[in-house]
Amino acid sequence: MKNDLEIKGKIIWLLRDSKEGYISGESISKKLGFSRAYLWKYISELRDDGYSIDAEPHKGYSLRSSPDKLFDFEVKRLLRTQTIGKNGLYYYSKISSTNDTAYALAEEGVKDGAVVIAEVQTGGKGRLGRKWVSPPGGLYFSLVLRPGLPLKDVQSVTLLAASAVSRSILNVTGVRTGIKWPNDVFFKDKKICGILTEVKAHPDKLDYLILGVGVNVNTPVSKLPAMSTSIKDVANYSTDRRALLSDILFEFEARYNELKDKGFGRLREECKKYSILLGNKVKITLHDRIIEGIAEDIDEIGALVVAGANGKKQRIFSGDVELCRM
Ligand code: BTN
Repeated sequence: MKNDLEIKGKIIWLLRDSKEGYISGESISKKLGFSRAYLWKYISELRDDGYSIDAEPHKGYSLRSSPDKLFDFEVKRLLRTQTIGKNGLYYYSKISSTNDTAYALAEEGVKDGAVVIAEVQTGGKGRLGRKWVSPPGGLYFSLVLRPGLPLKDVQSVTLLAASAVSRSILNVTGVRTGIKWPNDVFFKDKKICGILTEVKAHPDKLDYLILGVGVNVNTPVSKLPAMSTSIKDVANYSTDRRALLSDILFEFEARYNELKDKGFGRLREECKKYSILLGNKVKITLHDRIIEGIAEDIDEIGALVVAGANGKKQRIFSGDVELCRM
Protein backbone atom coordinates (compact mmCIF):
# COMPACT_ATOMS: atom_id res chain seq x y z
CA MET A 1 0.00 0.00 0.00
CA LYS A 2 1.15 3.57 -0.76
CA ASN A 3 2.47 5.63 2.12
CA ASP A 4 -0.01 7.19 4.53
CA LEU A 5 0.71 10.83 3.61
CA GLU A 6 0.04 10.09 -0.05
CA ILE A 7 -3.31 8.48 0.74
CA LYS A 8 -4.29 11.28 3.09
CA GLY A 9 -3.42 13.76 0.34
CA LYS A 10 -5.70 11.93 -2.09
CA ILE A 11 -8.57 11.93 0.41
CA ILE A 12 -8.14 15.69 0.91
CA TRP A 13 -8.21 16.23 -2.90
CA LEU A 14 -11.39 14.22 -3.25
CA LEU A 15 -12.99 16.20 -0.42
CA ARG A 16 -11.90 19.52 -1.94
CA ASP A 17 -13.08 18.44 -5.39
CA SER A 18 -16.47 17.21 -4.29
CA LYS A 19 -19.46 18.88 -5.85
CA GLU A 20 -22.02 20.30 -3.41
CA GLY A 21 -19.36 19.99 -0.69
CA TYR A 22 -20.02 16.32 0.14
CA ILE A 23 -18.65 13.00 -1.05
CA SER A 24 -19.80 9.60 0.17
CA GLY A 25 -17.49 7.24 2.02
CA GLU A 26 -18.35 4.56 -0.51
CA SER A 27 -17.23 6.74 -3.38
CA ILE A 28 -13.89 7.63 -1.71
CA SER A 29 -13.20 3.98 -0.82
CA LYS A 30 -13.98 2.87 -4.37
CA LYS A 31 -11.82 5.55 -6.00
CA LEU A 32 -8.85 4.81 -3.75
CA GLY A 33 -9.29 1.06 -3.71
CA PHE A 34 -9.52 0.33 0.00
CA SER A 35 -12.17 -0.62 2.55
CA ARG A 36 -14.47 1.71 4.53
CA ALA A 37 -12.61 0.63 7.68
CA TYR A 38 -9.37 2.03 6.21
CA LEU A 39 -11.16 5.22 5.25
CA TRP A 40 -12.32 5.64 8.83
CA LYS A 41 -8.75 5.26 10.07
CA TYR A 42 -7.51 7.96 7.66
CA ILE A 43 -10.42 10.33 8.33
CA SER A 44 -9.74 10.13 12.04
CA GLU A 45 -5.99 10.68 11.49
CA LEU A 46 -6.74 13.69 9.29
CA ARG A 47 -8.95 15.09 12.05
CA ASP A 48 -6.08 14.58 14.51
CA ASP A 49 -3.84 16.46 12.04
CA GLY A 50 -6.21 19.44 12.30
CA TYR A 51 -8.52 18.99 9.29
CA SER A 52 -12.14 19.65 10.21
CA ILE A 53 -14.18 17.01 8.39
CA ASP A 54 -17.94 16.71 8.82
CA ALA A 55 -19.73 13.39 8.39
CA GLU A 56 -23.46 13.54 7.54
CA PRO A 57 -25.69 10.48 7.19
CA HIS A 58 -26.78 9.95 3.52
CA LYS A 59 -24.53 12.76 2.30
CA GLY A 60 -21.00 11.68 3.22
CA TYR A 61 -17.96 13.69 4.20
CA SER A 62 -17.32 17.39 3.85
CA LEU A 63 -14.09 19.35 4.44
CA ARG A 64 -14.76 22.47 6.54
CA SER A 65 -11.24 23.74 7.16
CA SER A 66 -7.58 22.81 6.82
CA PRO A 67 -4.78 23.38 9.35
CA ASP A 68 -1.77 25.61 8.69
CA LYS A 69 0.57 22.64 8.20
CA LEU A 70 3.29 22.02 5.62
CA PHE A 71 2.29 18.44 4.75
CA ASP A 72 4.04 17.37 1.57
CA PHE A 73 0.76 16.85 -0.29
CA GLU A 74 -0.30 20.42 0.54
CA VAL A 75 3.05 21.89 -0.58
CA LYS A 76 3.22 19.74 -3.74
CA ARG A 77 -0.05 21.09 -5.13
CA LEU A 78 1.35 24.64 -4.95
CA LEU A 79 4.78 23.94 -6.46
CA ARG A 80 5.58 25.82 -9.67
CA THR A 81 9.13 24.47 -9.97
CA GLN A 82 10.70 22.03 -12.45
CA THR A 83 13.02 20.12 -10.11
CA ILE A 84 13.20 21.78 -6.69
CA GLY A 85 10.78 19.85 -4.46
CA LYS A 86 9.89 17.55 -7.35
CA ASN A 87 12.86 15.25 -6.73
CA GLY A 88 11.72 14.32 -3.22
CA LEU A 89 9.84 16.28 -0.59
CA TYR A 90 10.30 15.03 2.96
CA TYR A 91 7.96 16.34 5.67
CA TYR A 92 8.51 16.05 9.43
CA SER A 93 6.39 17.50 12.21
CA LYS A 94 9.46 17.62 14.46
CA ILE A 95 13.13 16.80 13.83
CA SER A 96 16.46 17.91 15.16
CA SER A 97 17.66 19.82 12.09
CA THR A 98 16.46 19.76 8.48
CA ASN A 99 20.09 20.32 7.43
CA ASP A 100 21.20 17.15 9.22
CA THR A 101 18.36 15.10 7.72
CA ALA A 102 19.05 16.54 4.25
CA TYR A 103 22.73 15.67 4.69
CA ALA A 104 21.86 12.06 5.59
CA LEU A 105 19.54 11.87 2.54
CA ALA A 106 22.26 13.32 0.29
CA GLU A 107 24.63 10.62 1.54
CA GLU A 108 21.98 8.07 0.56
CA GLY A 109 22.00 9.58 -2.93
CA VAL A 110 18.81 11.69 -3.20
CA LYS A 111 18.75 13.87 -6.30
CA ASP A 112 19.43 17.57 -6.87
CA GLY A 113 16.44 19.54 -5.62
CA ALA A 114 15.21 17.27 -2.80
CA VAL A 115 13.63 19.29 0.01
CA VAL A 116 13.32 18.50 3.73
CA ILE A 117 10.67 20.46 5.68
CA ALA A 118 9.93 20.54 9.41
CA GLU A 119 7.25 22.29 11.46
CA VAL A 120 9.60 22.44 14.43
CA GLN A 121 13.33 21.79 14.93
CA THR A 122 14.70 20.73 18.29
CA GLY A 123 18.35 21.24 17.30
CA GLY A 124 18.15 23.97 14.63
CA LYS A 125 21.66 25.09 13.63
CA GLY A 126 22.89 28.55 12.71
CA ARG A 127 26.20 29.75 11.32
CA LEU A 128 29.35 29.81 13.43
CA GLY A 129 28.08 27.06 15.74
CA ARG A 130 25.06 29.08 16.88
CA LYS A 131 21.59 27.70 17.52
CA TRP A 132 18.59 28.52 15.34
CA VAL A 133 15.52 28.81 17.51
CA SER A 134 12.76 26.95 15.62
CA PRO A 135 9.35 27.14 17.32
CA PRO A 136 6.01 26.47 15.56
CA GLY A 137 4.93 29.15 13.08
CA GLY A 138 8.27 29.44 11.26
CA LEU A 139 9.45 27.92 8.02
CA TYR A 140 12.40 25.53 8.33
CA PHE A 141 13.61 23.68 5.27
CA SER A 142 16.76 22.45 3.56
CA LEU A 143 17.56 21.73 -0.07
CA VAL A 144 19.95 19.10 -1.36
CA LEU A 145 21.76 20.70 -4.31
CA ARG A 146 24.15 19.07 -6.73
CA PRO A 147 24.91 22.02 -9.00
CA GLY A 148 28.05 20.65 -10.61
CA LEU A 149 29.76 23.98 -9.96
CA PRO A 150 33.23 24.64 -8.59
CA LEU A 151 33.61 25.13 -4.85
CA LYS A 152 34.19 28.87 -5.27
CA ASP A 153 30.54 29.32 -6.37
CA VAL A 154 29.05 28.22 -3.04
CA GLN A 155 29.00 31.80 -1.74
CA SER A 156 26.92 32.91 -4.71
CA VAL A 157 24.37 30.14 -4.11
CA THR A 158 23.87 31.38 -0.52
CA LEU A 159 23.54 34.96 -1.74
CA LEU A 160 21.06 34.18 -4.48
CA ALA A 161 19.02 32.18 -1.96
CA ALA A 162 18.88 35.28 0.24
CA SER A 163 17.70 37.32 -2.77
CA ALA A 164 15.06 34.70 -3.54
CA VAL A 165 13.74 34.77 0.05
CA SER A 166 13.68 38.56 0.12
CA ARG A 167 11.86 38.69 -3.24
CA SER A 168 9.32 36.06 -2.12
CA ILE A 169 8.57 37.78 1.17
CA LEU A 170 7.71 40.85 -0.92
CA ASN A 171 5.68 38.81 -3.46
CA VAL A 172 3.62 36.96 -0.88
CA THR A 173 3.32 39.38 2.03
CA GLY A 174 4.16 42.83 0.68
CA VAL A 175 6.88 43.26 3.33
CA ARG A 176 10.10 44.79 1.99
CA THR A 177 13.29 43.26 3.38
CA GLY A 178 16.98 43.49 2.55
CA ILE A 179 19.88 41.07 2.55
CA LYS A 180 22.77 41.24 4.94
CA TRP A 181 25.82 39.56 3.42
CA PRO A 182 26.44 36.69 3.48
CA ASN A 183 23.34 34.86 4.59
CA ASP A 184 20.68 36.90 6.37
CA VAL A 185 17.45 38.62 5.43
CA PHE A 186 16.63 41.65 7.54
CA PHE A 187 13.62 43.89 8.13
CA LYS A 188 15.13 47.24 9.16
CA ASP A 189 17.71 46.26 11.78
CA LYS A 190 16.13 42.94 12.75
CA LYS A 191 16.73 39.48 11.40
CA ILE A 192 13.79 37.71 9.78
CA CYS A 193 15.58 34.85 7.98
CA GLY A 194 18.90 33.03 8.21
CA ILE A 195 20.55 30.68 5.73
CA LEU A 196 23.04 27.97 6.57
CA THR A 197 24.96 26.43 3.69
CA GLU A 198 26.94 23.27 4.37
CA VAL A 199 28.98 21.48 1.75
CA LYS A 200 30.48 18.13 1.05
CA ALA A 201 33.43 18.63 -1.20
CA HIS A 202 36.59 17.00 -2.45
CA PRO A 203 39.66 19.26 -2.71
CA ASP A 204 38.67 20.65 -6.11
CA LYS A 205 35.08 19.54 -6.58
CA LEU A 206 31.77 20.20 -4.89
CA ASP A 207 29.95 16.94 -4.24
CA TYR A 208 26.73 18.51 -2.92
CA LEU A 209 25.58 21.37 -0.81
CA ILE A 210 22.85 21.59 1.78
CA LEU A 211 21.09 24.94 1.78
CA GLY A 212 19.11 25.39 5.00
CA VAL A 213 16.63 28.25 5.29
CA GLY A 214 14.84 29.44 8.42
CA VAL A 215 12.20 32.17 8.11
CA ASN A 216 10.37 33.68 11.05
CA VAL A 217 6.91 33.76 9.51
CA ASN A 218 4.06 33.66 12.04
CA THR A 219 6.38 33.20 15.01
CA PRO A 220 5.56 35.26 18.10
CA VAL A 221 8.48 37.60 18.78
CA SER A 222 8.44 36.50 22.42
CA LYS A 223 9.77 33.13 21.21
CA LEU A 224 12.63 34.63 19.18
CA PRO A 225 16.10 35.81 20.21
CA ALA A 226 16.80 39.52 20.67
CA MET A 227 17.27 41.50 17.44
CA SER A 228 15.03 39.10 15.52
CA THR A 229 11.56 39.68 14.20
CA SER A 230 8.91 37.80 12.25
CA ILE A 231 6.79 38.63 9.21
CA LYS A 232 3.69 38.54 11.42
CA ASP A 233 5.22 41.02 13.83
CA VAL A 234 6.01 43.57 11.12
CA ALA A 235 2.97 43.01 8.89
CA ASN A 236 0.39 42.45 11.62
CA TYR A 237 -1.20 39.51 9.83
CA SER A 238 -0.51 35.80 9.42
CA THR A 239 1.04 34.48 6.22
CA ASP A 240 0.18 31.21 4.50
CA ARG A 241 3.49 29.37 4.99
CA ARG A 242 2.73 26.92 2.17
CA ALA A 243 2.31 29.73 -0.32
CA LEU A 244 5.50 31.39 0.93
CA LEU A 245 7.50 28.15 0.77
CA SER A 246 6.32 27.37 -2.74
CA ASP A 247 7.16 30.91 -3.88
CA ILE A 248 10.64 30.79 -2.29
CA LEU A 249 11.36 27.51 -4.07
CA PHE A 250 10.15 29.02 -7.36
CA GLU A 251 12.23 32.19 -6.98
CA PHE A 252 15.23 30.16 -5.85
CA GLU A 253 15.03 27.72 -8.77
CA ALA A 254 14.95 30.54 -11.33
CA ARG A 255 18.13 32.05 -9.85
CA TYR A 256 19.85 28.68 -9.34
CA ASN A 257 19.28 27.80 -13.00
CA GLU A 258 20.49 31.23 -14.06
CA LEU A 259 23.69 30.80 -12.03
CA LYS A 260 24.35 27.45 -13.69
CA ASP A 261 23.52 28.67 -17.21
CA LYS A 262 24.76 32.25 -17.29
CA GLY A 263 26.88 32.80 -14.18
CA PHE A 264 26.56 35.28 -11.32
CA GLY A 265 26.52 38.53 -13.39
CA ARG A 266 22.89 39.71 -13.20
CA LEU A 267 22.33 37.91 -9.89
CA ARG A 268 25.23 39.82 -8.41
CA GLU A 269 23.53 43.10 -9.38
CA GLU A 270 20.34 41.93 -7.69
CA CYS A 271 22.23 41.01 -4.50
CA LYS A 272 23.82 44.45 -4.53
CA LYS A 273 20.42 46.08 -5.00
CA TYR A 274 18.94 44.21 -2.01
CA SER A 275 22.05 44.60 0.17
CA ILE A 276 21.64 46.57 3.41
CA LEU A 277 25.42 46.77 3.87
CA LEU A 278 26.69 48.50 0.75
CA GLY A 279 27.65 52.10 1.34
CA ASN A 280 27.55 51.60 5.11
CA LYS A 281 30.15 51.23 7.83
CA VAL A 282 30.64 47.62 8.89
CA LYS A 283 32.57 45.76 11.56
CA ILE A 284 33.57 42.24 10.61
CA THR A 285 34.77 39.74 13.17
CA LEU A 286 37.08 37.17 11.61
CA HIS A 287 38.58 34.27 13.54
CA ASP A 288 41.83 36.15 14.13
CA ARG A 289 40.99 39.88 13.80
CA ILE A 290 38.39 42.58 13.39
CA ILE A 291 38.02 44.64 10.22
CA GLU A 292 36.22 47.97 10.11
CA GLY A 293 35.43 49.95 7.00
CA ILE A 294 32.86 50.79 4.38
CA ALA A 295 31.17 47.90 2.56
CA GLU A 296 31.75 48.88 -1.06
CA ASP A 297 30.89 45.96 -3.28
CA ILE A 298 29.96 42.32 -3.67
CA ASP A 299 32.46 40.89 -6.12
CA GLU A 300 32.10 38.44 -9.00
CA ILE A 301 32.21 35.38 -6.70
CA GLY A 302 30.08 36.88 -3.93
CA ALA A 303 32.85 38.11 -1.60
CA LEU A 304 32.24 41.37 0.29
CA VAL A 305 34.64 44.18 -0.62
CA VAL A 306 35.39 46.47 2.32
CA ALA A 307 37.43 49.68 2.14
CA GLY A 308 39.35 50.46 5.34
CA ALA A 309 40.10 53.95 6.71
CA ASN A 310 43.37 54.01 4.71
CA GLY A 311 41.41 53.25 1.53
CA LYS A 312 42.85 49.76 1.31
CA LYS A 313 40.29 47.29 -0.03
CA GLN A 314 39.88 43.79 1.35
CA ARG A 315 37.77 40.92 0.07
CA ILE A 316 35.94 39.09 2.82
CA PHE A 317 34.86 35.51 2.25
CA SER A 318 33.19 34.76 5.58
CA GLY A 319 32.77 36.29 9.01
CA ASP A 320 30.31 37.87 11.35
CA VAL A 321 29.23 41.23 10.00
CA GLU A 322 27.80 44.03 12.10
CA LEU A 323 26.20 47.04 10.47
CA CYS A 324 27.37 50.24 12.20
CA ARG A 325 25.02 53.18 11.85
CA MET A 326 26.98 56.28 10.83
C1 BTN B 1 22.04 31.65 10.59
O1 BTN B 1 21.42 32.72 10.53
O2 BTN B 1 23.02 31.54 11.33
C2 BTN B 1 21.60 30.51 9.75
C3 BTN B 1 20.30 29.91 10.25
C4 BTN B 1 19.81 28.76 9.39
C5 BTN B 1 18.58 28.09 9.98
C6 BTN B 1 18.02 27.05 9.08
S1 BTN B 1 16.45 26.46 9.65
C7 BTN B 1 16.48 25.17 8.48
C8 BTN B 1 17.91 24.65 8.44
N1 BTN B 1 18.13 23.66 9.46
C9 BTN B 1 19.00 24.07 10.39
O3 BTN B 1 19.35 23.40 11.37
N2 BTN B 1 19.43 25.29 10.09
C10 BTN B 1 18.86 25.80 8.87
